[in-house]
Amino acid sequence: MKSQELKAAVAKRRTFAIISHPDAGKTTITEQLLLFGGVIREAGTVKAKKSGHFAKSDWMAIEKQRGISVTSSVMQFNYAGKRINILDTPGHEDFSEDTYRTLMAVDAAVMVIDAAKGIEAQTKKLFKVVKKRGIPIFTFMNKLDRDGREPLDLIAELEELLGIEGYAMNWPMGMGKGLVGLYDRVDHQVELYRENEAGDRFLPLDANGQLAASEPLVNESIYRDTLDDIELLNDAGNQYDLKKIMAGEQTPVFFGSALTNFGVETFLKHFVDMAPAPGPHQLQDGSELSPTANDFSGFVFKIQANMNPQHRDRIAFVRIGAGEFDRGMDVTLARTGKTIRLNNATEFMSDAREAVQTAVAGDIVGLYDTGNFQIGDTIYAGKQKVVYEALPQFTPELFMRVTAKNVMKQKSFHKGMQQLVQEGAVQLYRTYSTNDYILGAVGQLQFEVFKFRMQNEYNSEVVMTPIGSRVARWIDPAQLDEKMSSSRNLLVKDIHDEPLFLFENQYAQRWFADKYPDVRLTAKL
Ligand code: G4P
Repeated sequence: MKSQELKAAVAKRRTFAIISHPDAGKTTITEQLLLFGGVIREAGTVKAKKSGHFAKSDWMAIEKQRGISVTSSVMQFNYAGKRINILDTPGHEDFSEDTYRTLMAVDAAVMVIDAAKGIEAQTKKLFKVVKKRGIPIFTFMNKLDRDGREPLDLIAELEELLGIEGYAMNWPMGMGKGLVGLYDRVDHQVELYRENEAGDRFLPLDANGQLAASEPLVNESIYRDTLDDIELLNDAGNQYDLKKIMAGEQTPVFFGSALTNFGVETFLKHFVDMAPAPGPHQLQDGSELSPTANDFSGFVFKIQANMNPQHRDRIAFVRIGAGEFDRGMDVTLARTGKTIRLNNATEFMSDAREAVQTAVAGDIVGLYDTGNFQIGDTIYAGKQKVVYEALPQFTPELFMRVTAKNVMKQKSFHKGMQQLVQEGAVQLYRTYSTNDYILGAVGQLQFEVFKFRMQNEYNSEVVMTPIGSRVARWIDPAQLDEKMSSSRNLLVKDIHDEPLFLFENQYAQRWFADKYPDVRLTAKL
């Protein structure tokens, strides 16, 4: 690909993830987006996939037909001249560090909030991770077709709970049974919930932001309330600030109802316009790498093990940071210096009919992996060594003690443990006093996968004893005194030998802070 072509291709990429609390409507909205992208033709396809593990094969069959991908981890489609990549961030029981790491591979995030519930726990956690990256965050307030909270409250909550300004791009006119439409502050029109008798969905607003007097379509009192709200927003609300939006300090807020496909396309249209194309990546040596640099390079942000024991292969997901990926190309694995030929790659393409399949900076490729890759690895094609900035460590919240069931099989136990920990499947800690193994994770499923893989891949049966959720805080080794450890704050060290306390709960942490006011405790992301 010539450099001009590469530039044009990269400029078209929009790579993002949806963050939300379970049940807010992520799957429903994703499905609507795929419909707009022409990837699926019927609603219900993605939902069918979600309802239980056993429907997975149906989903795979659909994916094969449509040529999307072997998993639904990455969905790609074209819309309005742009190439969209949606990276799935599993929620529910699948919630894991992979979910967090996926957020390291996107250029923007979409936060879906249930308008009746407001900001919920998992959204808050995911938001924190995205916020650290300083990338733009777009908000979709969902389920307007049901009675929800006051829109003004929802906007205020963004600032109160998340510390991000909200700028309403559009505004609900009524809600639930009384929903009539959206007042669009950007396109200066009203988008009707149901089209009027003449079949119009969009009614223009005049220079004063009002509907023409001849429009009898909108319920008078709802209309007045809307105008009052708009006046309030204009006078006392946040000022639209694109610079803040790009830095993740202000979030453009869209309202809608994914289930009834209302407001979703309006959101998509603006999102595609505003969301950034892939930008430069920070390298370990402190320099920045342009996405249009000629030589291919990328980093592994997720490794998915195949749960089927008959297929022990894994897929390493690589975010392309620069250049163009070619099937069969030779790359160097920065960590080992080893050359690897990328024959078995699976690109996440929406359109199997496309003659030339290319993947460039911003896209994701899945590499079948036989054990070469680790989370955070850089691969590069040029002569110049490239190492991407390390992925952040996350603070686990759930902990287990783990031992080998069969003491005679310590060797395979240690080998499995070491490899799975390196891969980033779980976090490993050792207790100070007895050197016991403690595993940490952000989601319960990580433990289950760990146990399964220890047994299946390393022939090591493990016994895991839950110690429940803990608040993990690292302490400066210079300040550490082993006497600080008590029954309510287990002292352990991580794989880098850095000490941390696992506090029983926040009260235990506060008690500690009161007792040792000079000791600085820190969390990872
Ligand atoms: P998730 O991926 O974020 O977990 O949410 P999902 O899309 O699965 O949606 C969760 C539930 O909320 C689903 O109902 C879905 O139909 C519903 N939902 C999503 N968007 C809207 C909306 O705009 N309005 C309303 N009223 N409901 C919405 P469910 O009963 O759990 O599933 P199903 O039986 O309808 O499939």
